[in-house]
Amino acid sequence: MTDRYCVFGNPIGHSRSPAIHARFAAQCGQDISYEAVLAPLDGFAATVAQFVAAGGKGANVTVPFKEEAFRLSTRRSARAERAGAVNTLAFDESGIFGDNTDGAGLVRDIAVNLGVSLAGQRILLLGAGGAARGVIAPLLAGRPASLFIANRSADKAAALACEFADLAAVDAGSFGKIAGCSFDIVINATSASLAGASLPLLPGIFAAGSLAYDMMFGKGETPFLAQAREEGAVLLADGLGMLVEQAAEAFLVWRGVRPDTAPVLAELRRQLTA
Ligand code: ATR
Repeated sequence: MTDRYCVFGNPIGHSRSPAIHARFAAQCGQDISYEAVLAPLDGFAATVAQFVAAGGKGANVTVPFKEEAFRLSTRRSARAERAGAVNTLAFDESGIFGDNTDGAGLVRDIAVNLGVSLAGQRILLLGAGGAARGVIAPLLAGRPASLFIANRSADKAAALACEFADLAAVDAGSFGKIAGCSFDIVINATSASLAGASLPLLPGIFAAGSLAYDMMFGKGETPFLAQAREEGAVLLADGLGMLVEQAAEAFLVWRGVRPDTAPVLAELRRQLTA
């Protein structure tokens, strides 16, 4: 019998996850279905329960339900505990297992697809919301020289740095606090571009040969990457690779096999630029 999976979100209409998982399944010879499910804002738990009752085996979770999925999970992976959010659920007789593959997806995209090692690099993470929180521990595991979290509300960045202080010394502050500093990798985890806003990036933050990485993606260059290009960043990457890599990591959790992401990413890229 075909095993059922889905992604829960609100909105969910434009999700690319069903297309990604259909390609993974075909490539790996796995008999699964994967659909997009719109959960009401006040009805996430009930929608999950319905899907489980209908025989669902697992699910991805996207905005705005990742924290709720964390609370709903009866068991969690260590990386989900660290992130405080869950983007991957697996259902069995023992309950709901919650995992978080976002950080692993980001790190794999940077290290494998872009060929940029995190080791010894000065990393600047922009933003201190859920998207930023989920990637901090995986970034630190890559042993960078330093990690600075910059956020519009400096107190949120400081609180986040404190939370991860047992892993490494993490600096934090407002965008203004990084004046005079430069970084090898600058990652945008803010939602500023959703609102069409640009970030108050100070000149000189991009070191020679640096990578600018936007966790967002869309048709054409994102506002952050356009800004980064103007400021001298050489390597520019959007979050499409992270999306495909976090999906592959979820597929591995569910099916025990890691799909080859390269052809899927290339096809999505073609569709996005067509
Ligand atoms: P997510 O789960 O996507 O991270 P979030 O928790 O709402 O969403 O966090 C959004 C992040 O984007 C925050 O870091 C937010 O900054 P504040 O903490 O100061 O609110 C940041 N952000 C959103 N709009 C922004 C803007 N126009 N300029 C700078 N930062 C912005």
